Amino acid sequence: MRILILGGTRFLGRAVAQLAIEQGHDVTCAARGVSGVAPAKARFVPVDRDDSEALVPLADEGFDAVVDVTRQVSHARYALAALADHVDNWSFVSTISVYADNTTPGQTAADAPVLAPAPPDVDGPVGPDNRWYGECKVSIEQAVRERVGVDRSFICRAGLIVGAEDPSDRFPYWVRRLSAGGEVLAPGRPTDRVQFVDVADLAAWLLRAAGTRLSGTYDGTGPAMSRADLLAGVAAGLGVADPDLTWVDQEFLLSQDVREWSGERALPLWVRLPEWGGLMDRDARPALDAGLAVRPLADTVRATASWMTAHPAAVRQGGLDPADEVAVLREWQAVRSR
Ligand SMILES: NC(=O)c1ccc[n+]([C@@H]2O[C@H](COP(=O)([O-])OP(=O)(O)OC[C@H]3O[C@@H](n4cnc5c(N)ncnc54)[C@H](OP(=O)(O)O)[C@@H]3O)[C@@H](O)[C@H]2O)c1
Repeated sequence: MRILILGGTRFLGRAVAQLAIEQGHDVTCAARGVSGVAPAKARFVPVDRDDSEALVPLADEGFDAVVDVTRQVSHARYALAALADHVDNWSFVSTISVYADNTTPGQTAADAPVLAPAPPDVDGPVGPDNRWYGECKVSIEQAVRERVGVDRSFICRAGLIVGAEDPSDRFPYWVRRLSAGGEVLAPGRPTDRVQFVDVADLAAWLLRAAGTRLSGTYDGTGPAMSRADLLAGVAAGLGVADPDLTWVDQEFLLSQDVREWSGERALPLWVRLPEWGGLMDRDARPALDAGLAVRPLADTVRATASWMTAHPAAVRQGGLDPADEVAVLREWQAVRSR
């Protein structure tokens, strides 16, 4: 296939480009080159998508498939205007943040309500909390369906993406923490659900979808698992036997100003329940039935750990600081012994 990746200079887009090259496809990445570099052997076309005409010169190149990862509504619209009539298949990487209900477990793309589209004066996510992110993705999904048609478009609503080159502090926190050893603060209950997709598995599915002309809207995430299985699996992937986990109640963590999901003083992949009980417990069967293949957790852990070791400067150092973790654990033991 001749594949055009709108992006390709970091994480998922780069993984799609790299795998496509390994599979023998002809790969073009169009981006500014600000976030990183496209893989060697991909053709890199420098473009700034703020320019509405930037992609027009690529229109007559005869691409079989486009993969777009944008979060900016105008960028998507410019790309569609320039290219939609010239490519066979359009894949758009959306997000499970499009959903209106984050509480109910077991939802699928086919039945879950989504947010309203972004207001006309909002073009992309705003501020550190990414306000309007989900709404902008809804707007782009609609634009893709309208301009390309539902039969030629694949909307892939990614869940939490993990693995090598992860620019976030989420999954890497647990790899770092379990490899450090000692008493590990495990948030919530062992049975709480967590869910994610390996970047390499998602990349492989996007390429398979382009090759088979899969159309429609799917969640792009693996099966949910318990947090106990996640932490045991991360430890096992690192070769750590019997991690020393101390499970700490959600309400206690919140009372100690430990934060959810990601960032400073957060325990990544932990969200308050039941409010966020649907976020990491979606029904993965439609994606699995449509070709998403999921590798063993240990492989994801090893790929993440190797990358973290090889590129320490690229790893984001977020999450609960070790001294804060010790302090919270000490306070928890004190409360329990009272
Ligand atoms: N990470 C997660 O856990 C997660 C979860 C759910 C969904 N998602 C979605 O998954 C996708 C992840 O994509 P990703 O990791 O490949 O990339 P990304 O982090 O979304 O990066 C955006 C890409 O677009 C390019 N870009 C940005 N501004 C541009 C401009 N003005 N002109 C041209 N290119 C521009 C960037 O390259 P340059 O800066 O080099 O131009 C980069 O390659 C996103 O759509 C995200 O919303 C992520």
